[in-house]
Amino acid sequence: MEKNIPKSILITGGAGFIGSHVVRRFVAQYSNYKIVNLDALTYAGNLENLKDVQNTANYSFVKGDITDTDFINDLFSRNKFDGVIHLAAESHVDRSISDPLSFVRTNVLGTVNLLNASLELAKNNPNFLFYHISTDEVYGSLGEKGLFKENTPYNPNSPYSASKASSDHFVRAYGETYKLPYIISNCSNNYGPNQFPEKLIPLFIHNIIQNKPLPVYGDGNYTRDWLYVKDHAEAIDLVFHQGKKGETYNIGGFNEWKNIDLTRLLCRLMDKKLNRAEGTSEKLITFVKDRPGHDLRYAIDASKINKELGWEPSVTFEEGLEQTIDWYFENKDWLGHVTSGDYLEYYKKQYQE
Ligand code: NAD
Ligand code: DAU
Repeated sequence: MEKNIPKSILITGGAGFIGSHVVRRFVAQYSNYKIVNLDALTYAGNLENLKDVQNTANYSFVKGDITDTDFINDLFSRNKFDGVIHLAAESHVDRSISDPLSFVRTNVLGTVNLLNASLELAKNNPNFLFYHISTDEVYGSLGEKGLFKENTPYNPNSPYSASKASSDHFVRAYGETYKLPYIISNCSNNYGPNQFPEKLIPLFIHNIIQNKPLPVYGDGNYTRDWLYVKDHAEAIDLVFHQGKKGETYNIGGFNEWKNIDLTRLLCRLMDKKLNRAEGTSEKLITFVKDRPGHDLRYAIDASKINKELGWEPSVTFEEGLEQTIDWYFENKDWLGHVTSGDYLEYYKKQYQE
């Protein structure tokens, strides 16, 4: 995608965690673009995430559901988007175990709706691009060794990853069958500001502040590869503008941590931040029943995006975690808003409080 030509871009899921960082980056970097953020504002979507860009001339917000076919077709026929960056999804593995159907609806049906509407636009615009944001979880689980590469076979284990794998297959199938120009990227675990406190890092920061238990699943010897969300947003910008159509890019942090080691690191950083004696937060660690179908290890080989597009993470894990912790302390209002109402019910059910 040529940067200097004005264009209209649809970003779905822009009020969520990663989406809000992508929207902010595009609004700031590309004043010649019209950025439309489409989001249903589920429990995970929050316009507070974007209050600094809401009055910017090149930005607009549309509330709507990607599973609503008529609404999507109407939106696409009124706006001749040149590109779609698709992030809207149900994103939490634990929720997918208790309610798989809503993951099929949003992640599969919603994606197919967007693909169908995109076909019309692509017919009249040879430069059109559908950029699908996906996850490394589609590859399943690694053993102690090895890395996920772009050609690693798909082997999803949770309803969440099965729904994302299915959406990836639909995107590729539309590329093959209807020649829809597309790119897919599969990224590892993100962390950073604005992440809903149901995922490991923000949940544990929240619980340490509140002196609540830190529920480590199983023995805690599960490994994830962590990437700072702003580095992911930069990668998405690069792939959108310089990626090759019809290709997949793996994006990761080169940063593997066992959950228990990460939890202990977080505890030490939080003790410092809260001026508590070292070891205080670690006492909150509670080993709980394991997640069913829990994938042992994820780790990305990001050498393709590194070699072809020159991308690499810019923030070390220590810097990223400190910035994240600072953000949650400076944004206690945000944390208060998102953890009121439905969240409390979810939390009680999840941890049988
Ligand atoms: P999130 O849950 O924080 O945000 C999802 C957003 O999508 C929310 O704003 C929500 O309101 C919106 N949404 C949900 N259902 C919708 C619907 N039916 N119609 C319109 N909008 C809807 O998710 P996230 O963590 O920011 O993830 C964004 C994308 O990146 C997802 O596709 C996810 O699979 C992928 N991803 C996430 C990670 C991660 O670590 N968080 C890693 C790799 C890939
Ligand atoms: O790998 C990319 C994926 O990372 C994304 O596609 C998903 O959208 C995102 O949610 C994330 O999935 P995970 O399941 O890896 O993230 P989560 O933060 O839920 O869990 C991280 C690890 O910590 C995992 O091994 C489960 C464990 N865990 C999680 C929670 C919430 C715990 O031990 N206790 C917890 O309370």
